[in-house]
Amino acid sequence: MYKRLADYYDEIYHFKNYQKEAEKIETLIQLHKKSAGNRLLDVACGTGNHIGYLKQHYIVEGLDSSADMLRIARKKHPDVAFHMGDMTSFKLKNRFDVITCLFSAIGHVKTKTRMRKAVRNMASHLQPGGLMILEPWITPLNFRKGLIGWNFVDKPNLKIARINISKVRGPISAFEYHYLIGTTSNVEYVVDKVSQGLWTHEEHLEAFRDAGLRVSFDSEGLMGRGLYLGIKP
Ligand SMILES: C[S@@+](CC[C@H](N)C(=O)[O-])C[C@H]1O[C@@H](n2cnc3c(N)ncnc32)[C@H](O)[C@@H]1O
Repeated sequence: MYKRLADYYDEIYHFKNYQKEAEKIETLIQLHKKSAGNRLLDVACGTGNHIGYLKQHYIVEGLDSSADMLRIARKKHPDVAFHMGDMTSFKLKNRFDVITCLFSAIGHVKTKTRMRKAVRNMASHLQPGGLMILEPWITPLNFRKGLIGWNFVDKPNLKIARINISKVRGPISAFEYHYLIGTTSNVEYVVDKVSQGLWTHEEHLEAFRDAGLRVSFDSEGLMGRGLYLGIKP
């Protein structure tokens, strides 16, 4: 999706309240961050929707592995530094007071080994006293297969219908999203297959602890998936 459908991302996720989510992130930062600085890195920043609000309070940078998502983020926020990179392996010179990784982007790394590598790599970019905030994908316990999902976009010059069902293959969730996209020039049918790793609560906690972070869990989170909060001592 992040390549072919990047231009429709903001329309498809119109139901998300990024402002409210950013306000909650800001509250958690105020509560937990111990370092004095205010540099924030949003990993897997997508089209920069949280960044639009977080940049009011922090010196923000964004990182994503998709050139197409970054193209849109850069256009919306020409004042922000964006980097192309993989969360498991990026290397930046700066160290940050806050690192966020939101909307379950971590699930895209698929395996537990890569999830642990991503957490370790993000932790290595934190200042002492810095805070990592990670919104996980669904746990194996909470994942429900066979659910039918739908999402419609109804704008004058754009109509999108998306239907999907949830399947599971071992420790991986497999979604097949079927899109019908109508623009003023044509109607396109696109199938997007998305696989995301399913990890337990314990596996997340262990990844944070093994990366040298003091971890806690906010079960309410931004949209019911919770948030892991890791402080670098
Ligand atoms: C669900 S979107 C979330 C985007 C944004 N955080 C938001 O809340 O709208 C997932 C994002 O993760 C990015 N992504 C997927 N795998 C990645 C990886 N290994 N490293 C960095 N970004 C990745 C995708 O390109 C996409 O922009």
